[in-house]
Amino acid sequence: MNHPWLNDSECLEWMRTIRRHLHRYPELGYQEHATAAFIEEKLAELGITRVQRLMGTGVVAWLGKKETAPTVALRADIDALPVHEQTGLPFASEHPGVMHACGHDGHVAMLLGAARLLKEGELPGRVALIFQPAEEADGGAQGMIAGGALEGATAIFGGHIERLYPVGEIAVQPGIICAYADEFRITITGKGGHAAKPHDSRDSIVAASALVLQLQTLISRETDPVAPAVVTIGTIQGGSAANAIAEETVLTGTVRTVDPATRTALFAGIRRMAGALAELYQVSTTVAISEGYPPVVNSEAASRIAREAAAAVVGEAGVIPQPKPSLGGEDFSFYLREVPGCLVRFGARKEGHEQESAHSPRFDFDERVLPIGAAFLAQAAIAALSRLDELTADRP
Ligand code: NI
Repeated sequence: MNHPWLNDSECLEWMRTIRRHLHRYPELGYQEHATAAFIEEKLAELGITRVQRLMGTGVVAWLGKKETAPTVALRADIDALPVHEQTGLPFASEHPGVMHACGHDGHVAMLLGAARLLKEGELPGRVALIFQPAEEADGGAQGMIAGGALEGATAIFGGHIERLYPVGEIAVQPGIICAYADEFRITITGKGGHAAKPHDSRDSIVAASALVLQLQTLISRETDPVAPAVVTIGTIQGGSAANAIAEETVLTGTVRTVDPATRTALFAGIRRMAGALAELYQVSTTVAISEGYPPVVNSEAASRIAREAAAAVVGEAGVIPQPKPSLGGEDFSFYLREVPGCLVRFGARKEGHEQESAHSPRFDFDERVLPIGAAFLAQAAIAALSRLDELTADRP
């Protein structure tokens, strides 16, 4: 790791201050008003004046040449999670029940760092800096695209902080890296009654319990074992008294898959099993499936450029593959439906927090990743602007 940008201690300090400020004042999806204002303030500090708000709390800024110039986009997500922080950090969240538990505070600092590194006058084209709200909510990416954030863009790059890898590693992988993330809701309606008179009732909780276990056989008995897939029931709600049989029980959950055939088969399996429950337990059931984020599929050309940019920052040895797709969802996928691009993972493992995955109330990362992320993003943008033909050939 000897990229000159990594030794810019003033820039590093600037990014760290930004990260800690955002960490202290996290905001949920579409409520990132102070966050957006803070980003605008920092852009103004850098003398970046072409700035636009989208969707209320999204910010896009353009660097470099005029509108008609070839454009490469860089994206950071800016929202926090409904998690109550338990890190004990000196800059821990001051908003109870809200926390930057996924590293998006770091992503903002990195993108601002990249803006600082890119010398506007020397750019061979235009760079769009996309500060996107609501990655964790319902896909803020879609609104940013509809609002024109990708206008004129040939490609897009982004990165996510990753506690599994040490600082100094960047994972770059062409192809699918994040799963389809869909949700479902199953409502089981029986007949409520006295807890001591089950024969006069239809118990929705017993039926729901059977279904919870049965649904797991969709994975263990019906899905190709080499195709990654998950069915998780996240909530069960039913009943209101210890001495009453519950009339209604509602299950909600998520399905994660990486290929369309498995996904379709699981949707059908959930409907089939819920339907069969009606017969088995004399209840009625309804199933609602809401399609979530599409999978993140990195383009070959953009991944090649990302790989080289990563090597320029952390050296060849620091660039690693991501051999298995994550079953997490990521709305970066919406951008990749429009233009070729690559989402990488920045190694950010922090001592003492290795076991705390993203979304944990004790999640934290090693801030030494900040200049690495910034340098990677800046480097990728410059490289992409000089290789537009390669990227155009890779349009989705
Ligand atoms: Ni995230």
